Amino acid sequence: MGKQASTKVCVTGGAGYIGSWLVKKLLEKGYTVHATLRNLDDQLKVGLLKSLPGADTRLVLFQADIYKPYEFRYAIQGCEFVFHVATPQQTAGSSHSSQEIVEAAISGVRSIAESCIESQSVKRLIYTASMLASSPLTKDGFNLKSCLNESNWTPSDIIFTHGFEYMRAYTISKTLAEKEALRYNENPGDEKLLEVVTLTCGLVGGETLLPYVPLSVEVMFSQLIGKPQTFEGLELMEEVMGSVPVVHIEDVCDAHIFCMEKPSMRGRFLCAAANPTIREMATYFLENESQYQMPEEFMGEEKKGIAYDSSKLVKLGFEYKYDMKKILDDSVKCGRRLGSIFLH
Ligand SMILES: NC(=O)c1ccc[n+]([C@@H]2O[C@H](COP(=O)([O-])OP(=O)(O)OC[C@H]3O[C@@H](n4cnc5c(N)ncnc54)[C@H](OP(=O)(O)O)[C@@H]3O)[C@@H](O)[C@H]2O)c1
Repeated sequence: MGKQASTKVCVTGGAGYIGSWLVKKLLEKGYTVHATLRNLDDQLKVGLLKSLPGADTRLVLFQADIYKPYEFRYAIQGCEFVFHVATPQQTAGSSHSSQEIVEAAISGVRSIAESCIESQSVKRLIYTASMLASSPLTKDGFNLKSCLNESNWTPSDIIFTHGFEYMRAYTISKTLAEKEALRYNENPGDEKLLEVVTLTCGLVGGETLLPYVPLSVEVMFSQLIGKPQTFEGLELMEEVMGSVPVVHIEDVCDAHIFCMEKPSMRGRFLCAAANPTIREMATYFLENESQYQMPEEFMGEEKKGIAYDSSKLVKLGFEYKYDMKKILDDSVKCGRRLGSIFLH
């Protein structure tokens, strides 16, 4: 048995967009994967994960819900690394308030970190954070700092003009949950107990294993299809972050694995390959997808984007392979393949 096969890693939210791609890559690399999902009776999600190459011998599925966070402990037991990818979200028919979602995200992180420590097997917890938590806006929301980098934190009382209530709840939940995760790095006495890495990702695009277009991919090409509901997500990102940091699904998953394979690593790392404005994305689409009409209201403002410092992860040796063009092209390909982008 290779070293990788004997290394067990856990992926929470293993059937989601990022989670399923990460599970696929980990299996390809030979690791044994404990993946969690909320419902083991969901034949579609279970079938998708079980059909991945290597799944028959090296994938074990566990049922766990963030609203019952103790359930994750069974999946975590015996693992060396835990990727906490799952996040509570407001979905159609969901009965949870924004406040409950924020609290569940924070207590989920806390409970998972405690299970990691109790297990005595977990060396590092890698949390999939969002760059919506790293706003360079000052508290009053009127000024931008000069650069997007790891020192920025979205103020929890920030007021946005764009975005729906569920997007605001998501932003606050990701900010506070990431802070909670990093708290486990703070106590010098606990240094040997657990390393925590937060990988603070931009908007993720590219292909998918899922049978539908993931939300972030649809946000990525929302201008092209002129869909106000998802375009609102782009506008929220530009408002909160000064522009739209983007990253390809391949790079995002490779970055997760990079953070795992380093002998030692902890702290916060931004993860995005490019940082266009909405207008720059529109210009790219107009030049390269000229068969589609883009109404003026989806073109974004003519403005200068904010500088983005991607060096912290890169200095450790990580290389992005996909630039903005590739991220947008692959997102459009995914939308076309799954029938979300078509000519009227
Ligand atoms: N996509 C992006 O642009 C982006 C950018 C930055 C950060 N992120 C972060 O990446 C992670 C994955 O996002 P995604 O884009 O892959 O979204 P996704 O496809 O919607 O996946 C969300 C995952 O969370 C799980 N989940 C939802 N509610 C849960 C609950 N109550 N208990 C347990 N699991 C629950 C879902 O599990 P089930 O399969 O069981 O429903 C699913 O696996 C999230 O933490 C997100 O904040 C995403």
